[in-house]
Amino acid sequence: MCAIDGMGGVGKTSLAVHLAQRLAGRFPDAQLYLDLHAHTAGTRPMSPTAALDKLLRALDIPGERIPADLDDRAGLWRAEVARRRAVLVLDNAADAGQVRPLLPGAAGSFVLITARRRLVGLEAADSFSPLMCCQAVTRSRFSRRSWARTGPAPSRPPPRR
Ligand SMILES: Nc1ncnc2c1ncn2[C@@H]1O[C@H](COP(=O)(O)OP(=O)(O)OP(=O)(O)O)[C@@H](O)[C@H]1O
Ligand SMILES: [Mg+2]
Repeated sequence: MCAIDGMGGVGKTSLAVHLAQRLAGRFPDAQLYLDLHAHTAGTRPMSPTAALDKLLRALDIPGERIPADLDDRAGLWRAEVARRRAVLVLDNAADAGQVRPLLPGAAGSFVLITARRRLVGLEAADSFSPLMCCQAVTRSRFSRRSWARTGPAPSRPPPRR
């Protein structure tokens, strides 16, 4: 699990989606993206119950199999993810409480979380800013091979208008 935090416009979503695409070959069963809407104007942050509904449907679980209760829903999600090698992007997380029920229980999947604030209390997450994450990934063997194929590391994002 990797949490990418930083101010708006710094490149968190771009980095998370880029990494997820790079990792898709290692997690071939599912590549999922979910916007948790922590900062969408006019929208409340998505509840864990609603997020689990979307994630389960993204795995083609029929609506009638999805329990109403949050704990039961989270249990079904963990069981379904445990059967797969999946990479999951949870974009725009509000806080650790929103994200925790969405985390796979088993190893074998990889979760990238973006948030404008550090997700205090998400003990298992490695936290990075986009710049740190680029540096860390660039140092890894995986990334050296990736950048060797794609050219130099991406430039800084342009300033927001
Ligand atoms: N490495 C990069 N090189 C060039 N442009 C980039 C790079 N990363 C992001 N950008 C551009 O910067 C802008 C902001 O990026 P992004 O949406 O990923 O930011 P964010 O941190 O997710 O912001 P928010 O907190 O508002 O969701 C986008 O227009 C994106 O195309
Ligand atoms: Mg974003």
